[in-house]
Amino acid sequence: MACSKAVQRSAVLLQNSTGFENYVGKRASSWWGAVQMGPPDVILGVTEAFKRDTNPKKINLGVGAYRDDNGKPFVLPSVRKAETRLAEKQLDKEYSPISGTAEFCKHSILLALGSDSKHVADGLNATVQGISGTGALRVGGAFLASFFPGAKEIYLPTPSWGNHGPIFRHSGMNVKSYKYYDPSTCGFDSKGALDDLSKIPENSIVLLHACAHNPTGVDPRPEQWSEISAVMKKRKLFPFFDMAYQGFASGDVAKDAFAVRAFLKDGHQIALAQSFAKNMGLYGERAGAFSLICSDKEEAARTMSQIKILIRPMYSNPPIHGARLVTEILSDEALHKQWLGDVKLMADRIISVRTKLQDNLKKLGSSRNWQHITDQIGMFCFTGMNQQQCERLTKEFSVYLTKDGRISMAGVTSKNVDYLAEAIHTVTK
Ligand SMILES: Cc1ncc(COP(=O)(O)O)c(C=O)c1O
Repeated sequence: MACSKAVQRSAVLLQNSTGFENYVGKRASSWWGAVQMGPPDVILGVTEAFKRDTNPKKINLGVGAYRDDNGKPFVLPSVRKAETRLAEKQLDKEYSPISGTAEFCKHSILLALGSDSKHVADGLNATVQGISGTGALRVGGAFLASFFPGAKEIYLPTPSWGNHGPIFRHSGMNVKSYKYYDPSTCGFDSKGALDDLSKIPENSIVLLHACAHNPTGVDPRPEQWSEISAVMKKRKLFPFFDMAYQGFASGDVAKDAFAVRAFLKDGHQIALAQSFAKNMGLYGERAGAFSLICSDKEEAARTMSQIKILIRPMYSNPPIHGARLVTEILSDEALHKQWLGDVKLMADRIISVRTKLQDNLKKLGSSRNWQHITDQIGMFCFTGMNQQQCERLTKEFSVYLTKDGRISMAGVTSKNVDYLAEAIHTVTK
């Protein structure tokens, strides 16, 4: 349905912008002669520019993918071990069920809600594998667009991950916003968020970043989450959690799932998108999960049947390899423990380069307050640099970042942190 609407929209655009005759004329030589060039993806465009740069000191702080202290992609040792085990098993390559395997779904939701989750024990979750976090959000969008009993409106924090708006618009929903980030403190705008949430019309959907908010790295504190939960309960707002960084923020998977678990304790029914891209380093494997928490087992079965009906025409069934790796790791006690150590190692390295960057800026005599570098959490730091300063960083120092001042801390290493601090100090003097 979304596609046919898009086609109609394009046809209208063509008639308005180029005239129908022109369209027919071009069509004679090619069906696609009137298709216009679209803008490059904001983040992937940064990587393209980085690749073209020949400066040996160049740094890519655009893309949100973990790098080791040599700036190289990192395959987790627990993932390597799981891969060896899978290879030994000589498994077939048959189709997965539409929803992914039951084992994968069970381990995913238990990771989010806790191994002692009563909701899971009582069968209240309808969980399906998603094509990583993006696919899980898209399946959630499709379900809510079809079945949410209130307005098809979803409220995103300002700012939010750049793909949230397109995902939910593509699902056929209206996308709106609520205050989240306070540029004057580079921190959470608690008052602004609570004020906005208390004005959102009842029976609307609110998207919440469960932890390690992207792009700001700013998370509410536990007591602030409780206030958000209370306001949302009072206003009858439906929480859709996006948890793309569980474990990656603090190094502790339970701590990072605090908000999700607290909302359930407060009696919310929630939707949840999970991704294993960051916390297992399975970026290209596309393993994630979408869950709805229902009021009883029978309702979970009904919603599950409809989610499967939505998935079938979109992509039939999900890819198997990444999900098998996740299952292998989460189902084996020793491997699970090793993975928790791997996650902590990644989180700790990021926390340590945050401190180094902040210390270096202080040592260089920067008069600015860089406290937020260590207050913020997870993959990203919202530096507070303006567009002009970001452009100077790229032009004069070959430091690549998005123009909103967001830097991926994963691209900072003990080897490039001095150079980076000098560059940031120079452009922010
Ligand atoms: C907030 C947020 N949600 C979801 C995702 C989805 O990522 P993926 O589809 O790679 O799992 C990302 C990735 O950057 C993200 O930052």
